[in-house]
Amino acid sequence: MSRSAHPAGPRHADVLPEGHYAAPPADLNALDPKVWARTVDRGADGVVTVGGMSVVRLAEEFGTPAYVLDESDFRARARAWRTAFGAGADVFYAGKAFLSRAVVRWLDEEGLNLDVCSGGELATALSAGMAPERIAFHGNNKSVQELERAVRAGVGRIVLDSFQEIVRVAHIARELGTRQRVQIRITVGVEAHTHEFIATAHEDQKFGIPLAGGQAAEAVRRALQLDGLELIGIHSHIGSQIFDMSGFEVAAHRVVGLLKDIRDEHGVELPEIDLGGGLGIAYTSDDDPREPHEIAKALTEIVTRECEAASLRVPRISVEPGRAIVGPTAFTLYEVGTVKPLDGLRTYVSVDGGMSDNIRTALYDAEYSVALVSRASDAEPMLARVVGKHCESGDIVVKDAFLPADLAPGDLIAVPATGAYCRSMASNYNHVLRPPVVAVRDGEARAIVRRETEEDLLRLDVG
Ligand SMILES: Cc1ncc(COP(=O)(O)O)c(C=O)c1O
Repeated sequence: MSRSAHPAGPRHADVLPEGHYAAPPADLNALDPKVWARTVDRGADGVVTVGGMSVVRLAEEFGTPAYVLDESDFRARARAWRTAFGAGADVFYAGKAFLSRAVVRWLDEEGLNLDVCSGGELATALSAGMAPERIAFHGNNKSVQELERAVRAGVGRIVLDSFQEIVRVAHIARELGTRQRVQIRITVGVEAHTHEFIATAHEDQKFGIPLAGGQAAEAVRRALQLDGLELIGIHSHIGSQIFDMSGFEVAAHRVVGLLKDIRDEHGVELPEIDLGGGLGIAYTSDDDPREPHEIAKALTEIVTRECEAASLRVPRISVEPGRAIVGPTAFTLYEVGTVKPLDGLRTYVSVDGGMSDNIRTALYDAEYSVALVSRASDAEPMLARVVGKHCESGDIVVKDAFLPADLAPGDLIAVPATGAYCRSMASNYNHVLRPPVVAVRDGEARAIVRRETEEDLLRLDVG
């Protein structure tokens, strides 16, 4: 690994970013446990380890870039959610955050259920042996084939997202001589992102059936009339990367209001409500996520209070955390290829991946942190931008970061909190091969999703 000295990068006051990177951290070698997987540590030799494995060894064995996932951390977080909600509630891991067969087995062993939202996710879950009754099937435009497969497989619930789908699922279930358990996804007029939420009369979005204007009540009316359907509850999902529980408070109030209307109109008390996912994680040291037991307590109290006020039996609650389980458990390991100081601006650090393995920065302006992991350094901090190898100037992995000024080609750097919505949103842009997911546990590492090869790419190219 190169140790060549590199001229100190620019620290121009005009370009110092706001927020987390407004000033360099006191110690660039420190690894904030808030953003790194639980077994990550920096050894006495300066090399970072995870699950007892050195990142230098991981890079030698699996190459870079690679997503490195701390299996014991994943299991511990899954278990914490399960324990926090207890036997009276259900935790459905949202597979869209990251799904593989190994993940399905871990969830199964830790007692979680699973949310899928496509035929591909359903196939992965079933092929890994997840019991169909523990699977929920989501999506705003599931195909008839996907729905048929789900009903045939016997999934525990289909979350209905439109009037057309109510009819489609009822028809499929009748044809197959069964009754499908369903929930109706409603939009409650709450949008929550990070520390803010907005309560509106209606939401302008593609998911769910609006509560406003009586559409949700009409959907319930139709679902209750169709003998192919067993309506078990109402579903609401209000946003992503949420820290502020008040959005859930408003959502629960409105969902319970609908349950009360249903009881009054139809004489039926639906037994379940699902409050979705969206709970936030720490991407940088500025984020302060809540622990699962605090979230479980808050949600249970909110629903109980609302039901008592409406004289309703408290329904069984379910939640669908994705990011909050897998997000913090992985980091992306990159090798530095070029280091380009731009006078008076910042230093561009190019890595061997980019927007094809992490689109979130380009897509959502997401913030990440980064650290030099193949060695420690006492060099001055330099203001850096970590960029990928793609043909887009928006190909940014970490927009503003302080890295040691002696950073050089061949160094390994890692971006923490990339377990969710990175591999699952990865692309082959520029025909770049998607990285492997390497699971590490107790000093052993194995690829649970292997690196793509050029043969994989060319296999699809049949022209
Ligand atoms: C219906 C539903 N449930 C759960 C989730 C998972 O969200 P998160 O990974 O932020 O917890 C999503 C994410 O979009 C969703 O749409």
